[in-house]
Amino acid sequence: MSRSADLARLVRDRGGSEPVSHGLILGSGLGHIAGEVQGVAIDYADLPGFPHAGVSGHNPKLAIGTLEGVRVAVFGGRAHYYERGHADAMRLPLDVLKALGADRLIVTNAAGSLRPDTPPGSLMLLSDHINFSGLNPLIGEPSDARFVPMTDAHDPAMRAALRTAASTEGLDLPEGVYAWYSGPSFETPAEIRAIRTLGADAVGMSTVPEVILARFLGLRVAAVSVITNMAAGMSDEKISHEHTKAMAPLGAAKLERVLRRYLRDLV
Ligand code: HPA
Repeated sequence: MSRSADLARLVRDRGGSEPVSHGLILGSGLGHIAGEVQGVAIDYADLPGFPHAGVSGHNPKLAIGTLEGVRVAVFGGRAHYYERGHADAMRLPLDVLKALGADRLIVTNAAGSLRPDTPPGSLMLLSDHINFSGLNPLIGEPSDARFVPMTDAHDPAMRAALRTAASTEGLDLPEGVYAWYSGPSFETPAEIRAIRTLGADAVGMSTVPEVILARFLGLRVAAVSVITNMAAGMSDEKISHEHTKAMAPLGAAKLERVLRRYLRDLV
């Protein structure tokens, strides 16, 4: 038995054997919705090989149960490349998600905005991304399956459903391109000007490896950013992790409404 199959069995023993439909990865300061899942929450510490989510603002638990009538697995903590230098840090959790039967994944994150019309507190649905880090979670993967096509990686039908959910809720959900810098230092203003010229609308330190892994595993995936700040050099506000955590709740309530409506509309 593989490690992910063993862990999936452990999760099923505690959280029930009904297959999961959707996975949800929660970004910094966006953990509230995990507590809304009707089911059980399993500490990552009880899931051998799961990341020690060592970043404040994350809650390292896997919540498994139903949300708006949909069977979900909600990852309250994520591992980032910048913690230990592993771009595939979320491989095991996503392997387990797949083994639990999921076919769709929604990734959320806190991000900086490069668009003056999308200020802190806004949501942005990712239409595409730029892997500016040059890293890849599939390096070392031996099979030809590693050559994953990334056209429409951000699933058009899921994006349409999320846009409909936002519009039903009366919320703006503009689409944009997310650029991944490895972090953990924030970007320089020159780096932001560079990626702005290249077509980025938001910037962050996560999500892209998870989208690549999801596509590798055959999961459909969509990602939503909660904008916590204007990117470096675009405003006078000081950028910091404290600021990110303080600002995330502004958009988190909107994100929760969109996600709940999206799930409700699936049933
Ligand atoms: N840059 C990178 N990551 C981030 C930012 C940012 O400006 N804001 C929140 N996460």
